[in-house]
Amino acid sequence: MAKINPFKPNSPVPPGMFAGRIEEIESLEKGLNQTKHGNSSNFLITGERGIGKSSLIGYIKPTAQGLIKSSDYDKFNFVVVNTVISNKSTLISFIKLLERNLKREIEKIGKAEKVRAFFEDTWSFVQRLKIMDSGIDKAQVNEELDLIIDDFSYSLAETCKRIINPENGESAKDGIMIIVDEADNACPDLHIGYFFKVVTELLQQNGCENVMFIVAGLPDVVEKLVASHESSMRIFSQLVVKELNPDDRRYVVNRGLEVGNEQNEEQTTITANARNMISTLSEGYPHFIQQFSYSAFEANTDGEISEDDVGNGAFKNGGALDAIGTRYYQSLYNEQIKSDEYREVLEIMAENMNSWIKKSDIREKFSGNDHTVSDALKALTARKIILKNPSKLGEYRLQHKGFALWIKLFGRRKNATS
Ligand SMILES: Nc1ncnc2c1ncn2[C@@H]1O[C@H](COP(=O)(O)OP(=O)(O)O)[C@@H](O)[C@H]1O
Ligand SMILES: [Mg+2]
Repeated sequence: MAKINPFKPNSPVPPGMFAGRIEEIESLEKGLNQTKHGNSSNFLITGERGIGKSSLIGYIKPTAQGLIKSSDYDKFNFVVVNTVISNKSTLISFIKLLERNLKREIEKIGKAEKVRAFFEDTWSFVQRLKIMDSGIDKAQVNEELDLIIDDFSYSLAETCKRIINPENGESAKDGIMIIVDEADNACPDLHIGYFFKVVTELLQQNGCENVMFIVAGLPDVVEKLVASHESSMRIFSQLVVKELNPDDRRYVVNRGLEVGNEQNEEQTTITANARNMISTLSEGYPHFIQQFSYSAFEANTDGEISEDDVGNGAFKNGGALDAIGTRYYQSLYNEQIKSDEYREVLEIMAENMNSWIKKSDIREKFSGNDHTVSDALKALTARKIILKNPSKLGEYRLQHKGFALWIKLFGRRKNATS
C-alpha cells in the first residue's frame, strides 16, 4: 500500500506540526491578553513568500478561539474572523466579506435568534452598499468612503460590546480578532492604510477597545499601508517572520515523520545526516523544509530516509528543487526577466551560488558588451532579484542558494521550453 506523505509543501502547516516562532507567539498572545482587557493591540506580520505567515496565523487563530491553550494565559475566547485580500478587493467588497464572516461566527453564539436579530439590525447599512458609480468625482467618492468606514466602525463596536456583555444564556466573549491575510494584494482603491487607521480610531471613540487586527503580507505591504495613510504603521506592532533556526528545521522533519508514522503502518525513520542535509538545503525556509522532506519521503523505498534519498528527491526532474522553482523562481526568471542577456548574467552569477561576485568577473565571462552588464545589474538589483554589496563597491550576489541551484539545474530547460 502506498504510504501517506505527511509533509505539506503546498498549504499552511496545521498547529500540530508547527515549529518554532516562540517569540512571535508570545507577542501575539500578549496582544490578545491586552485586547481582552480593554487595551486593543494590532499586529502586522510581514515576511517573504513561503516563510510561514499564514501558518503563524493558523496557529494563533485557534489560540484566540480557546481551542489551543496559551502557555502564559488562561484560555482565550475570541470571535475570530479570517479574511484574505485579493487584487480585486474593493473597500465595499472587503467590508461585505468581513460582515458575512462575522455574521457566521456570531450565529454560533448563544440563542441564535436574538443575536441574529441584533446583528441584522446593527449591520443593515451593508445591504445598502453599492459599487460606486465610476461617473462620480473624486471628492464625492472620498466622502462616501468616510461614511462607509464610519458605519462599519460603529457596527463593529456595537457588535463587540454586545458579545462581551452577553444577555441571558449566552457565553461572554473576550472580543473580536480580525485577520487580514495577503494584504500585499491590496490595490490603491482599497485605501488599506487609511481604513485601518480610521477604523481603530473610531472604535476607540465608540468605546470599544476589544478588537484586534492581524494583518499579514509580503514586505511591500508596508509601503502600501504608508502610501494610503502616512501614519497607518503606528497602529501596528510589526512582526517580521524569518528563517527557522536549525533546531526548528530538524523538529519540522521529525514531527512530520511522527505524524506519518501515526497514519501509516509501514514506519519511516531518517538518518541524522539526511536530516541535516534537508536543514542545509532549505536555508531555513519552512516551505523548502516541507518540500525537501516531502520529496525525500517519496524517494525513500527501504523505511529509512538516507542522504541519497534526500539528494534524489531534491535534484531529479520533478523533484523538490524543480517544484520550488516552478512555484517561486520560474516566473521571476521567465516573465520578469525578459532579456536573454540578463538571464546570462544570472547564470554567470549562479556559478558562485549566492556568494559575492565582482562585476569585472561577470564582465569577463559575459558574451555581450560592458554596457549590457551594467544595465543588467542595475535592473536586477532594482527588482530585488540580486543584492548589491553595501560595503564593497561593484560586488553583487543572488539572494538565495536555492535560486542559484535551480538556475544551474533547470534554468536553461525552463527557458528553452517556455
Ligand atoms: N512554523 C512552521 N513549521 C512547520 N512548517 C511550516 C511553518 N511555517 C510554515 N511552514 C510550511 O511552509 C510553507 C509556507 O508556509 P505559509 O504559512 O503558507 O507561508 P506564507 O504565508 O508566509 O507564504 C507551508 O508548506 C507550510 O506548511
Ligand atoms: Mg500566506
